[in-house]
Amino acid sequence: KNNEAHLHGAIMTERRILVTSALPYANGPIHLGHLVEYIQTDIWVRFQKLRGRRCVYVCADDTHGTAIMIRARQEGRREEALIAEMQRAHERDFAGFDIAFDNYGSTHSPENRRFCEEIWRSLRQADLVVERNVSQLYDPQAGTFLADRFVRGTCPSCGRPDQPGDSCQCGATYTPVDLIDPVSILSGAKPEIREAKHLFVQLEKLHDFLNEWTQSGDHLQPEVVNYLKGHFLDEPLRDWDISRPAPYFGFEIPDSPGNYWYVWFDAPIGYIASTQQWCDRHSGRNDDWWRSDQTEIHHFIGKDITYFHTLFWPGMLKVAGFSLPAKVHIHGFLTVGGEK
Ligand code: 2FM
Ligand code: ZN
Repeated sequence: KNNEAHLHGAIMTERRILVTSALPYANGPIHLGHLVEYIQTDIWVRFQKLRGRRCVYVCADDTHGTAIMIRARQEGRREEALIAEMQRAHERDFAGFDIAFDNYGSTHSPENRRFCEEIWRSLRQADLVVERNVSQLYDPQAGTFLADRFVRGTCPSCGRPDQPGDSCQCGATYTPVDLIDPVSILSGAKPEIREAKHLFVQLEKLHDFLNEWTQSGDHLQPEVVNYLKGHFLDEPLRDWDISRPAPYFGFEIPDSPGNYWYVWFDAPIGYIASTQQWCDRHSGRNDDWWRSDQTEIHHFIGKDITYFHTLFWPGMLKVAGFSLPAKVHIHGFLTVGGEK
């Protein structure tokens, strides 16, 4: 009896650790700035493994979004061909720096689609999704809505020409619809204003939970705790625009045909999908990693994507009944002579 209790105790206290680095975009190569993150995560993982912990390190390519779609078009090939080529290049570079992932997946995978659908169903069931029309610039020649960075025009505040779609050198910020004489950088065409239906997640309904999770429990560095309190949690959280109308390279939303999940919805879900692939190769159970209080989840990310990982992501996990991260480790940028 005594022995059994002992053994049981030992099993109960075994630390299982799931570790992730941010998923690099498939629209560009790995550069030195990326390696700041992957090398520090890799060192941390090697330490845990040397200490005898059961530790799994997963990552994946982040493959969806407008940029990939546009680039594939310009190169006259399918997105699938482009992302496959980029994935080979990424994996080659990571291997060249001895980054030892236990699984390297892709957000454009059947596993990811399945988990997206599961989390989406939970968001719907929790009554967190609403529909609203959004006015956006549309390029009639390229046949696509234009993200802010694909438009330039004259600043509505100071009149400076050739400014980006969201902000001007003078410091003004605006939406692309307010630009004077906007021009699409894809085709040079004059964009039109078009309305389209978008789906939003009402994050405000999770305000109390996010307050509690971010402000206590030692999941975040003190600077980050303060940043979130001062910039987001001190007022009502804005609805999160989670869909994009066709054409878009991503997963079509099952109960909203013609609309696709925004890349930032399916990207972090790629952490779960990559873990699933690891489990499939090692006869493991995904729930042991993502729905177990015996497992610690550790995300390593750069400070530019803090709010995705500390507000949206914990919200999604919570609503769908997955484990929350034990820690989000946030680093700064690599700079050379003061430049990012
Ligand atoms: O900022 C980036 O490079 C994103 N591709 C990171 C995604 S991390 C995770 F959420 F998928
Ligand atoms: Zn201006």
